Amino acid sequence: MGLPRSSPFSSMAVLVFVLGLVLNAAVLCNGGITSTFVRKVEKTVDMPLDSDVFRVPPGYNAPQQVHITQGDHEGKAVIVSWVTVDEPGSSKVLYWSEHGKQKKQAKGKVLTYKFYNYTSGYIHHTRITNLKFNTKYYYVVGIGHTERKFWFTTPPEVGPDVPYTFGLIGDLGQSFDSNRTLTHYELNPQKGKTVLFVGDLSYADNYPNHDNVRWDTWGRFVERSVAYQPWIWTAGNHEIDFAPEIGETKPFKPYTSRYHVPYKASGSTAPFWYSIKRASAYIIVLASYSAYGKYTPQYKWLEEELPKVNRSETPWLIVLMHSPWYNSYNYHYMEGESMRVMYEPWFVKYKVDVVFAGHVHAYERSERVSNIAYNVVNGICTPVKDQSAPVYITIGDGGNLEGLATNMSYPQPGYSAYREASFGHAILDIKNRTHAYYSWHRNQDGYAVEADSLWFFNRYWHQIDDSTK
Ligand SMILES: *[C@@H]1O[C@H](CO)[C@@H](O)[C@H](O)[C@H]1NC(C)=O
Ligand SMILES: *[C@@H]1O[C@H](CO)[C@@H](O)[C@H](O)[C@H]1NC(C)=O
Ligand SMILES: *[C@@H]1O[C@H](CO)[C@@H](O)[C@H](O)[C@H]1NC(C)=O
Ligand SMILES: *[C@@H]1O[C@H](CO)[C@@H](O)[C@H](O)[C@H]1NC(C)=O
Ligand SMILES: *[C@@H]1O[C@H](CO)[C@@H](O)[C@H](O)[C@H]1NC(C)=O
Ligand SMILES: [Fe+2]
Repeated sequence: MGLPRSSPFSSMAVLVFVLGLVLNAAVLCNGGITSTFVRKVEKTVDMPLDSDVFRVPPGYNAPQQVHITQGDHEGKAVIVSWVTVDEPGSSKVLYWSEHGKQKKQAKGKVLTYKFYNYTSGYIHHTRITNLKFNTKYYYVVGIGHTERKFWFTTPPEVGPDVPYTFGLIGDLGQSFDSNRTLTHYELNPQKGKTVLFVGDLSYADNYPNHDNVRWDTWGRFVERSVAYQPWIWTAGNHEIDFAPEIGETKPFKPYTSRYHVPYKASGSTAPFWYSIKRASAYIIVLASYSAYGKYTPQYKWLEEELPKVNRSETPWLIVLMHSPWYNSYNYHYMEGESMRVMYEPWFVKYKVDVVFAGHVHAYERSERVSNIAYNVVNGICTPVKDQSAPVYITIGDGGNLEGLATNMSYPQPGYSAYREASFGHAILDIKNRTHAYYSWHRNQDGYAVEADSLWFFNRYWHQIDDSTK
């Protein structure tokens, strides 16, 4: 600018620029770590129907498959869901705070659905509202017949420096390995308070006629966690249950009947994409299996949603989706590509901190990279280091019956920082507006062992390089 073309200054600048490109390319040509951890690869099999974890609670019309999720945008409401099998019974929830004397009641709704020759039990969904922040509540379901009592703790009031601990689980299923993953999550000394679940719940669709009995067993299996802390749901491909060969042509029927989410509170028009605030985090759930192209409802919602995120209120911007955008396994390779093309420029513009996905049954963490320069004719189609970009984490290693994804592409691409084919879960421990500690825990280790870990620096408040190489 203003300098003659031949000035030593400008050639210097060009040299620095070229050197920068070379260095950048060098950085991105060498991948990160492919773990050398060796485990015994056994067949992953589902727990049989008579397993302890699937036991039906005793008593006439006893509520089963009890689960909770956040019920509003801020964290002052909870949706309580459960199933009764003998008769509809009551959809009322009785609840009271730990130190409060007054018991309150919330009314809900009951529904049933049919899937081929399966008829569901009575599925209840009841929203409890106007809860106090940071308070332990007890709640009772099954009023009138067999009552069962549970409890949960509401999150602290939304604010920029509020610490909070999330668990990350994906592609769980109901195998013996799924049970190990859940046990490791429960016994991890860094106690997760809410699970961010990245899709693929029961894998009932792997059974003949999508045997929906396996949706019920899954509900009973995970009750021991999800009745006591909210799981934030993302829809995966195993939730689609599209089976025209047996006359089932309405996608997501079992999933949407059983799992309700507070999508209307964030202005969404469908339960597959929505957002919540929780403590210092703003969580956006996206739908890999709903239309996301330009002009679609999800696109329009996300376009209006991202500018609403106030990082002075919720510094941590987290996105959940099922199909990963950055993946170096030879499974589901590039399945997330068309959604990446649509939304990645926004993720960089709005400085998303981290994206969690599942789908690939293994673990992988990316560098902060973006790949948004390509315009069909310019040939610029390689991911580059980008400090405004999120870290992408694939955590589809819950342990479902389909087994581990072990086949990786070589050499490890530059965007891949760490990858390992083991089952496990992760913890995201937000400390304040600048720092969050992240760790991944494989099932073969002791409960406290961290197989991969790093400090995340917030992209809005502390945008300094937090890469691990
Ligand atoms: C549904 O049909 C399958 C085979 O078509 C059969 O094995 C199963 O027992 C049936 N289930 C019910 C609840 O009728
Ligand atoms: C599942 O894990 C729990 C907790 O570790 C254990 O009590 C139970 O026996 C396990 N069940 C099966 C079928 O593995
Ligand atoms: C963002 O949040 C801060 C802190 O809660 C608040 O003071 C500010 O008014 C908010 N900004 C907007 C544009 O709402
Ligand atoms: C791994 O994936 C590659 C690419 O899809 C394929 O060519 C190769 O046969 C696979 N290897 C194994 C052992 O399955
Ligand atoms: C935020 O948390 C990190 C990690 O615990 C700590 O080092 C840092 O001092 C904290 N920042 C503030 C302003 O307290
Ligand atoms: Fe999947």
